[in-house]
Order: sequence, then structure tokens, then C-alpha cells
Amino acid sequence: MKIKKLALQDFRNFGILNLEQLNSEINVFSGKNAMGKTNLIEAINYISCGRSFRSVPDQKLIRDGQKFAGIHAQYETVSHQGKIEIGIFGEAKRSVRVNGLPIKKISELIGIVNSIVFAPEDLRIIKESPSLRRKMMDMELCKISASYYHSLQSYNIALKSKNKLLKDAHVDDTLIRVYNEQMAQYGAELIKKRAEFIEDLNKYSSDFYENLQEIDENIQLRYKISAALDDIQFNLLEKMQNNIKKEREMGISLIGPHREDIEILVNGRDSKIYASQGQQRTAMLAIKLACLEIAEKKTGESPILLLDDVFSELDKHRREKLMEIVSKKQVFITCTDLEGISHFKNASYYYVENANVKKE
Ligand SMILES: Nc1ncnc2c1ncn2[C@@H]1O[C@H](COP(=O)(O)OP(=O)(O)OP(=O)(O)O)[C@@H](O)[C@H]1O
Ligand SMILES: [Mg+2]
Repeated sequence: MKIKKLALQDFRNFGILNLEQLNSEINVFSGKNAMGKTNLIEAINYISCGRSFRSVPDQKLIRDGQKFAGIHAQYETVSHQGKIEIGIFGEAKRSVRVNGLPIKKISELIGIVNSIVFAPEDLRIIKESPSLRRKMMDMELCKISASYYHSLQSYNIALKSKNKLLKDAHVDDTLIRVYNEQMAQYGAELIKKRAEFIEDLNKYSSDFYENLQEIDENIQLRYKISAALDDIQFNLLEKMQNNIKKEREMGISLIGPHREDIEILVNGRDSKIYASQGQQRTAMLAIKLACLEIAEKKTGESPILLLDDVFSELDKHRREKLMEIVSKKQVFITCTDLEGISHFKNASYYYVENANVKKE
């Protein structure tokens, strides 16, 4: 999967930007701080998931003082070429066309042009709360499985309704049991896919981690699952029904995919507590590369890798290993200076200054 052309109109700090003939392998965007490099990465990633990876509302993506932001991209897959045109008019107001045809649901856009971002704030996925690890897992699974996306939406709707009921003392347990049945049905679908995903993530990320390291270290990922995987729907429902009293006391749902986690261990110890910054960064990079590999295996297309400001943080050995691993895939790299990045063959270099992008 490659993006051939990218055009932006009033997206973030860009007025009009036209990038023709993007490199099908390495594209490096360098420039001083606050020039628009991350905004570019954000626009490319918006095409694959219909939202900003910086978790900001669409409204913020429209250039200050303007009413509309546009992203156009031409892409190429192993089987076809196509174009995506997105217009953002405000919050929850946008138009999306794929090859000229309007699409109504964002689920139809997700994954057409798949990309994976690795940015400095991704270290929070290791360091902070389980919700960030679940978010990463859900995002990756949604991009490769439409049925996961639908189960997740249905599960979340049921969860929201049940949480409301749990806070209402007048509601009968029978109604809560009905919601538990729905949640166990959708939850089981999510858990089965998550279990498979984490198994692959564990396998590939540990290979990549060992490959990136010079010394003998390892990483391991463990799924903290809600209930036993065999006969998961039954087990999940049973746990939910047995916890109603406690849930009513606390006013929230305590069992299910929305409470799960992935444990990330470096050399057998919890990376959140024991791993150094460098180990955490390498672990996160290995996990991102594993996501790339999983998506490629599932869809037959390798996602585009977007490395925002992380390349220069890696040492020489890791940089070289990374470039070896991603060779032939399309990669976008942003950096403030080109030290250690200026020698790639088959790369295009761009300089970003005040929302202008010049090919060097
Ligand atoms: N909606 C918007 N309208 C206009 N400008 C915006 C908008 N949103 C963000 N900006 C501006 O875009 C500029 C560039 O942001 P960006 O995050 O892309 O910088 P960067 O080149 O990645 O910098 P750094 O090297 O510090 O990461 C910032 O000055 C920011 O204030
Ligand atoms: Mg930036």
C-alpha cells in the first residue's frame, strides 16, 4: 500500500499543499519545531481511520479562520489504484468519497489506506493506563476486521445503557441480565479476536525486539482476559450475572472487554515499572512493527509506516535495523534535523517551513 499523491486544503496550518510523486519507499520531512510536520502525518493517518491520532475533534483540524478542511490522496494497492477525498466542515460534519463515490459510514473508509503511526506520545501506551492499550488494540483490529468494528460499536452501546441502569435503584435485575446477555454475545466476539491478535502481537513483537536489540533481551505480551477462552460467551455471561450485586453497589460494569489489559514484560518484568526509556521505546517500536506485520498477513497489504519524531531518538544500530525491517514498505519520517537520516538510498527529502514543503 502506497500513497502516490497528497493534497491538503486548510488542514491545520496548511493553506494549499500539493505533494506529487511521493516516494514509494522513504519520505523524510525535516524542519524546525511547529512548522507542520506532525500535521502532515496526522493528515495521512486520518485517511486510514477517519480521525486524528492526536485525539482531537475534527473541528480543530480546520485551519484557523476557515470553514472547511480538505484531504485528497491517490493511493495504490497490489490490486488497484484509487483516490480518497475527505472534506471536514466541522464537528461530525464531513464528506468522504472513495473513487468518486460518497460513503456514509466511516467503517467503509477504515483500512482502505492503512497506516500505522509511531509518535513519542505512544510511550504512554506502555507507561499509562490499560485504556490506552485497549485503544491501540481496538484501533488495529478495527482496521483489519469490519466485524470487530461492528461488535465493538454494539458492545459499547449496550455497556453505556447498562451503566445507566446500574445507577438507577428502581431498575430490576432482570433488565440488567438482558443487557448482560447482549454484552456477553458481542464481548465474546471481541475477546476471540483479541486473543488471536495478542498471540500474533506477542510472537512478532518478540522477534522484532530481539532483532532491534544488540544484547540478549526479550519482550513478552500477555492478555489479561475477562474469562476463560473456551466457551467464552457462556463464561463471560456467568461472571457478569454473578457480579450484578457488586456492580450495582459501584454503579459501573466490572466484567468484560472494556476492563481488559495487555501486560507488556521486558525480560520477564513489568515494563511499566522496570523498563528504561530506551527499553520502552524499543518495546513500543517492536509492537508497532508487529501491528504492521499482522495487518499485512491479514489483508495482503502492508500498511504505511508513519514515524513522527521518533527516528532520531533511536541509536544507530536500531535505526539501521528498523530500515532493514521496513525496506520496500512506504515510510514517512519526520525529524528536526537530519543527523543519521541523510544517507538513505531511494529516499525523497523534503524541507518543511511554515507550512510550505519543498523537495530537496
Ligand atoms: N487548526 C489549526 N489552524 C492553524 N494552525 C494550526 C492548527 N492546528 C495546529 N496549528 C499549528 O500548526 C503548527 C505546526 O504543528 P505541528 O504539530 O505539525 O508541528 P511540527 O512541525 O510537528 O513541530 P515539532 O517539531 O515541534 O513537533 C503549530 O504552530 C500549530 O499551532
Ligand atoms: Mg511534531
